[in-house]
Amino acid sequence: MSETIRSIMRLFPLGVVVITTKWSDNLVGMTVNTFNSLSLNPPLILFAADRTKGNDIPFKESNGFVVNFIDNEKILDAFAFKPVKERFNGVKFFEGFEGLPILADSYAYMEAKKYVTYDIGDHTLIVGEVVNGKFLRDNFEPLVYYNRNYWKLRR
Ligand SMILES: Cc1cc2nc3c(=O)[nH]c(=O)nc-3n(C[C@H](O)[C@H](O)[C@H](O)COP(=O)(O)O)c2cc1C
Repeated sequence: MSETIRSIMRLFPLGVVVITTKWSDNLVGMTVNTFNSLSLNPPLILFAADRTKGNDIPFKESNGFVVNFIDNEKILDAFAFKPVKERFNGVKFFEGFEGLPILADSYAYMEAKKYVTYDIGDHTLIVGEVVNGKFLRDNFEPLVYYNRNYWKLRR
């Protein structure tokens, strides 16, 4: 059944963001397509972290995370495929609440305090309460992940 889910979800367009945090002084970042908003009151957002890869651990063991809205394919690829320790090399960032890294190339970002985490199946739902959010640029071209590629929107 997992292959059925994969093959159908592959053809379902999803937004992509880079989630960052600081985990015992290590900068952590990963590209995800499971990000969504969850509640407006209180202001909650979530994403799912793959426990088979240990992607949940930095987010369970830190106080919060940043959602970086990125329209640059190279950055999205780097935060999915580069060795974890090299991902911040040459990447500009500034510090937000609790010193968490905010990628300077984001067109917008949200900072979230950890609210709750749930282990479900082989993933963990990481839920955060938004404490701050900003646009960094007016001109941006969001990308959509579809059929294992990033696509620009056209109308
Ligand atoms: C488009 C795309 C979406 C992804 N979405 C998720 C996700 O929602 N949750 C997750 O844990 N990993 C997701 N990944 C994989 C992580 O980015 C990757 O496992 C993480 O950066 C750690 O890298 P590693 O697996 O090489 O250790 C996604 C990868 C890509 C390319």
